[in-house]
Parts: sequence; structure tokens; C-alpha cells
Amino acid sequence: MKDYIIKDEWNIIEEGFDPALNKISESLFSLGNGRMGQRGNFEETYSGETLQGNYIAGVYYPDKTRVGWWKNGYPEYFAKVLNAANWIGIDVQVDGETLDLHTSTVKNFKRVLNMKEGFLQRSFVATLVSGKQIAVEATRFCSISNDEVGLIKYAVTPINFSGTITFKPFIDGDIANQDSNYDEKFWDEVSREVLADSAYITLRTKKTAFEVCTGSKFALVQNGKLINVQAQQINKEKFVGHSFDIAVIANEETILYKYAANVSSQNYAKDKLVALCKEVVEEVFAQGFDKMLAQQKEAWAHKWSESDIVIEGDVAAQQAIRFNIFQLNQTYTGEDARLNIGPKGFTGEKYGGSTYWDTEAYCVPFYLSTADAQVARNLLFYRYQQLGKAIENAEKLGFINGAALFPMVTINGEECHNEWEITFEEIHRNGAIAYAIYNYTRYTGDATYVKEYGLEVLIGIARFWAQRVNWSADKLQYVILGVTGPNEYENNINNNWYTNYIASWCLQYALESIDAVKSGDPDSFDKLAKRLQFNESTEKEKWSHIVDHMYYPEDKHLGIYLQQDGYMDKEQVLVRDLPASQRPINQKWSWDRILRSCFIKQADVLQGIYFFEDKFDQEAIRRNFDFYEARTVHESSLSPCVHAILAAKLGYEEKAYEMYLRTSRLDLDDYNNDTEDGLHITSMAGTWMSVVQGFAGMRVHDGQLHFNPFIPGKWKSFSFNINFRGALLSVEIKKEYVRIINRSGVDVSIVILKNGYVLKGNDIVEIHVREEEVVRH
Ligand code: BGC
Repeated sequence: MKDYIIKDEWNIIEEGFDPALNKISESLFSLGNGRMGQRGNFEETYSGETLQGNYIAGVYYPDKTRVGWWKNGYPEYFAKVLNAANWIGIDVQVDGETLDLHTSTVKNFKRVLNMKEGFLQRSFVATLVSGKQIAVEATRFCSISNDEVGLIKYAVTPINFSGTITFKPFIDGDIANQDSNYDEKFWDEVSREVLADSAYITLRTKKTAFEVCTGSKFALVQNGKLINVQAQQINKEKFVGHSFDIAVIANEETILYKYAANVSSQNYAKDKLVALCKEVVEEVFAQGFDKMLAQQKEAWAHKWSESDIVIEGDVAAQQAIRFNIFQLNQTYTGEDARLNIGPKGFTGEKYGGSTYWDTEAYCVPFYLSTADAQVARNLLFYRYQQLGKAIENAEKLGFINGAALFPMVTINGEECHNEWEITFEEIHRNGAIAYAIYNYTRYTGDATYVKEYGLEVLIGIARFWAQRVNWSADKLQYVILGVTGPNEYENNINNNWYTNYIASWCLQYALESIDAVKSGDPDSFDKLAKRLQFNESTEKEKWSHIVDHMYYPEDKHLGIYLQQDGYMDKEQVLVRDLPASQRPINQKWSWDRILRSCFIKQADVLQGIYFFEDKFDQEAIRRNFDFYEARTVHESSLSPCVHAILAAKLGYEEKAYEMYLRTSRLDLDDYNNDTEDGLHITSMAGTWMSVVQGFAGMRVHDGQLHFNPFIPGKWKSFSFNINFRGALLSVEIKKEYVRIINRSGVDVSIVILKNGYVLKGNDIVEIHVREEEVVRH
């Protein structure tokens, strides 16, 4: 764990430069706008430890699989969103000496990520080996008003000398992924062009043939005046830029502006890319840095008006939740249904920028409540587009008749994961995809998605489960053998409770959805049934039989659901007895030891209880929570949020708060010692859930929004905005009252602490509650 980020409500602040923390900070200070993003790398040369990262959403390469022992059914490749051209580069030389924080003495170093307005600022004073001192202030952002654009303002002031500074603004296209399987470079050059003050380079990904033109134009300002410089052009393989000298005077500021754009063949014809890139660059250049920054602030103000959470009385918690929301909004905007949310977003290479079940299980609720319903619908539609591939994927494993197994990891619908115990066995992911359809429909009340697209996905998923279960003649029940549950610290187990439960639920939900669509629109159902060769009577009968005869492992004596068959055979040790020196166990123990231990990586039984909480009474939830929380090491970022929500529901104030801080400050405080690889973007949505579903106790039942609030002792109040069925609600929770303002013209039906209200458009409801009611319910 680290504790070097200065606590502030709206900013992420680092003061003082510690090279050992640089890669962590590069992750924390990442920027993005949904279309492109980058790590918080330095513009100038840095010869110390760094992970350079620039990414363009959806531009990927199928990196040939590398495994020790090939298994039939393994995918040919892992799709990676590629590290792309580095457009931020600005080399700086002071009288011929390179500015490099690794070799300089650094004073007054400060990095600030301004989350309110969406930009990154870095300032420092460097003393070079020669003794010359230079102050730098660099401001950078990825524009959300024009998502193909990034801008830099790089201001330098000589402190103790007058002399010559050489600036070299450049675009480097000779980029490699650190995680390349065969040390291969993934980009080929298509073209390059250097003009007087702008430069363009077009690169093409090998195999997938995506083309991206990256361009930039610079401007130099001294004493507030635009200076016309005669720059030398740099035009070599995969590298374009300019170099020019400028006389500088002690204590006078010189500013280099860099306006850059990435234009990709995903959106335009390849032969138009260069011309379009030039147009975009010229357009932002004409607008100027200040105007674009003003637009950025405005655009972020709008995003915050929909998604902010305000916490009074706890700066660490406030900073953390805003950081999570900020990063989510930087990663996915929902405008393009071809895109999705990689577990690390644009902040690192790990997980390849691909799609996991994280999206459906964690991210969908965040976008449902903080953006227009179309955003979550696009996330669902992404999977619909990949249904054909999910059916092929299942066929490769021997399933038939339109059974669909969605991949564990994918970009284009094809499976990329290549560890058998996950690829073939972590099949619970199919359940999350069905659950997201249910969640969307429940939240929005929009039944058209199921009718138009969802039902087809549900039938494919139900067909998969119906073939994946087998009848146990011994138990006279259906069992599911050879699986890995969400807890990946156990593989190839039988009857993972969560998997069995969600499999049966999927079958039930598919049956209900068939009936609903059929009764509402029999013609459209008939067409679908015909297209899918759906044998209604036999398939439905089989599914119902499975639902009625599914086996669920339990320990009746303890009154808990068992994570899997045989779980109680393990030596039962508690996490509180694990010495700190042994944690995280995935870095300290052999895999063999982990697999045999009772320790749980992430919410598993509790994930199921969280999804389907209405099916369990409070005491059953308590027993399971008490049992599993004591054995869970939370070494997946996805875990603490589920525990936070359930702890809040159970009135475990301290635990809920501890889990909240753990999920929300996971990256800021580097809890799992892995922030340097990138941020845990998908789990950030879980952080949002722990406030809204955990502390505010928000749920949707029967088309009504329910709130059962719970305020951590340290907080004076917390408030947030929610989009719900066309209404924008501001919810404020204090120890003594709950106030909900309807900021729209749409009436909404809400239930606060079990009392129902119809909140008319533009009206306010304020419920004064006795503290014990708010705190325990
Ligand atoms: C978790 C998975 C998750 C993946 C990507 C793994 O560590 O166990 O549940 O899908 O990370 O976030």
C-alpha cells in the first residue's frame, strides 16, 4: 500500500518526484476521452523507468497465442488494443543538454490531475548536470468535445541563465507493446509527411490492417507573442517532427503548443485519412488551446452534472469516488456500440484492452444511472453483434443447436483467453451477459431491447446451459462439473454454487422472456423461433426440468451455500490470521498452495447473493457474508465493492466503509501493488455501486426506485444524481434526512425506507428520519 497522493476533493496531486513511483503515477495521471487515451507519461525525454502508453479505442492486433502446452480449443491469438503512435513527445535541450528528469536534480515537482475540468498539469524546476536551472509547466488534455484531438501547452522558463533552447516536437510511430508475445512490432508505416510546422504519419496494424493517421502542429509563443520559427524538419522511418532553436532569457517564459489528432480507418475511408487528419489538426489549431480548454471544462461540467457523487466530511472518500467516476467517463462514452470497456481502459497494456464479464456485471449499472439509457443499450448491443461468434465458440467446444458461449476475453467476439481453466471453465460469464439484459430492462422499463435483440441472446445462452449441465443419477439432480467460478483461486471444481445458480436463473429468465415476447408480439416471436429453429415445447420443457432439479451445494449445519462441492474439506483458516507478510498471496505463494487453501480471491457465493438478493432473507445473507468475508482476500479488484454493498445492507458500518475505501482507493493507494500496470477501470464502476447501492441502498423493484440509506459515521452527507426513466433525480442523504429533488418534468415513483411517494416533475421530497432508522433497516 502507498500513501503519497495528496488528498483533495477535485484533484489528484503528487508533490515531489520519486522515480520509484513513476510508473504508478503514470497510471494514476492517465487521460482519455472514450476514443483515445494515454498514460501520464512525460512530454520530454525520460530515461528512467517508464511505461509509455497511447491507445486508440478499438484498434487492436491479434497477437499469436503463446502457451507452454497447447490444448485443443485454445484461441489462435490474444487481441490487444495496441500501444499506438506517441504524439505527446517534445524533446527539450538546454544549450545542447537534454532535459531529462532522470539525470537532473528535480525540485518543486507537482503533478495535478484536475478532474473537475479534465486536464493534467505538471510543473517542476530541473537543475541539469551543467547547473542550468529550468522551470517547466506542462498542461495536457484529451478533448471530449472533439474526441480525435489532444492538446499540450508546454511552458519553459530559464531560471539562472539566458541561452538557447532546442525544442523538438515529434510523433514517434516506432512503438512496441511491452507485452508482445514474440517481441514483434505491430505497426507498419503507410506514409509520412512533414510540412513547415506540422507533421503527419500514417501507420497500419499488421494483420488487422487498421490505419491511423496521427498528426500534430506546433506554435511558439514568447512574451505573449506568436513567434515564427524556421524549423528543421525531421522525417525518418516511423518518426516525424521538427527541431528549432530559440533564444531564451532568464525568467522569461516560452510556450510551445502542440495540437495533435488521431484519425482512424475505423471511422473513415483509408484514402481520406491524411486529408482528414490535416483538417482536424488545422481546425483545433485555429480554435487555439485556451478555447479548446474552455470547451473541455464545459464538457466536463456537463458530465459531472450527471454523474458526480458529493461526500461531505471525508476528503479521502470524496477524492476517491471522483477519481473512479472521472476515469470511467474518460474510458467509455457509449457513443459507439463497437467499443467496450477494457479492465484497464487506456491506462496500461494488461488485459489487452479487451472485454470481460466485468462490463456486464459491474459497468452496466454505472452507465444505466449516470447516462442516457442508450449508453447501456450500446453495451448490450455489443454482445448481440457478437452472438454469431459466441455460437461458433461453443461449437468449437462441441456444443450444438445454436448454443452460445460468450468469450471470457474478446474484442471482436472471438475468444482470446488461453488458460484452459478459464477459457473452457469460467463459463459463469455467460450468466452475467444475460443478467445485464435483465438489469437494463428492470432499470429502464424498456422491454423493446429484449424483443428486438435480447431474446435471441438469451436463447443462445439457455441452449448452452441446457447442454452444459448433466443429470446425476446419484443425486437425481442436475450438476455442472469442471468449472471455475468467479473465485479463480479454485479451478476445475464441481458445482460452483454461483455458476449453478446463475445457469438455472438464465434458463428461467429465458423462459419468462419468451412468454413475455410471445404474448406481446406473437408474430415477431414466431419469426425468431423459426429463424433459430427453436423447438418450443421440447426446449422449454428441458429448461424447466433443469430449473426445477438443479443441485446447489449447501452446508445445512452452518446455514450457508457452499462455494463448491468439497469446500469444507479444506483447512478452514481465516484471513485475519494470515500474516501481512504473506499477502497478497498471489505474489507470495505458489499456485499449488493457493489452489489448496480455502482463501477466496473475489466475491463468488456473495456475487450471486448480490445479484439475486431478493431470493434470500436477511439472516441467510448475514450467515453467508460472515462466513465468506472472513475467507476472502479480495485480490481481484472486483471483489470489495460487492462486499461493501452487502455489508451496508447488513448494517455492518465499519466493514462497509473499509470495503468502500478499499475499492475506491484501490489504485490511488496501490492496495494490490499493481497500479503501475494500469488502473482497474471496470472495478471503478463497482466503487460507484458501493455508494449508490451500498450506502444509499438504491434498488429498482417493480419499476420503482427504492432507497434504504446508511451513512458512514465519518460522513456528514452524501449526494448524487441519477437518471431514471427519463427523470434526473438529485439524491441527498444526511443523518437526519433524505431529500430527493426531481430536476426533470417526469413524475417518478420512489420508495424511501419502505414508504412510497410519487415525486412529481420538478418537485422535492424530504423525509426526516430517526437516526436509527437510517442507519439500520
Ligand atoms: C478477475 C476476473 C476479471 C478479470 C479482469 C481477474 O483478476 O478474477 O473476474 O474478469 O480480472 O478484470
